[in-house]
Amino acid sequence: MIILLFGKPGAGKGTQAPLLAAALGVPTLATGDELRAAIRNGTPLGLEAKSYMDRGDLVPDAVILGIIKVALSEPRHARGVLLDGVVRTVAQAEGLAAVCEELGQDVKAVLCLDIDDEEIVRRLAGRTVCENCQTPYTGREPGTTCDKCGGNLVRRPDDEPDAIRNRLAVYERQTAPVLAWYREHGTRVAIIDAVGSVRDVTARALGALAT
Ligand code: AP5
Repeated sequence: MIILLFGKPGAGKGTQAPLLAAALGVPTLATGDELRAAIRNGTPLGLEAKSYMDRGDLVPDAVILGIIKVALSEPRHARGVLLDGVVRTVAQAEGLAAVCEELGQDVKAVLCLDIDDEEIVRRLAGRTVCENCQTPYTGREPGTTCDKCGGNLVRRPDDEPDAIRNRLAVYERQTAPVLAWYREHGTRVAIIDAVGSVRDVTARALGALAT
């Protein structure tokens, strides 16, 4: 069972992914987290990805498809995985479909967290994330400590106003068309209202999967 968690930057994907994955009994995979880990570790992948990410542009499809192929072939993902922000272009959707066919897997549904740009700018302006486990927080200062792992909370370089504006424009131009691609290919797309408490959003997403 592969579920795609989809939505604009700041829609709440990283907040919802561990909650949904725990409820569904599957692991998560987030390309954003994989890329930030590569940057922290100073790998060639990280060096290539950093300038794209800091500007709020997408990392090239070939890089992302390499990550997807390796990750989905791992035994821990054999029974399913929740993909958090993993597919952001039509070329990536096509590439994931090819990998799924090779592995005998299928994308069961796309959950799209729906939220307007004004709320996104408000959320991202107040966000810090744990450098270590990537947990996002609202209203916590950089330099304070993560509740989950004790890691250091930082601001992300792509949460600066220019980068946020670019990420929203990139979403409209390159990522939003992916929803139509899945509908055309017969995959269920559920639009989830992402405004409200974290718990309510989780319940809406799980409810959509159950119907
Ligand atoms: P990535 O890290 O995936 O960033 P993103 O998609 O822009 O999403 P964010 O992590 O900013 O937001 P989110 O939706 O996870 O929201 P969060 O839960 O933190 O990717 C970063 C970059 O990597 C991309 O720009 C690109 O360069 C590259 N990349 C990654 N994947 C790629 C791919 N497939 N192809 C090409 N490039 C790729 O929530 C935001 C804030 O809101 C937090 O402060 C949170 O506490 C708060 N919040 C959450 N839920 C609620 C709620 N219900 N009410 C109030 N506040 C809430």
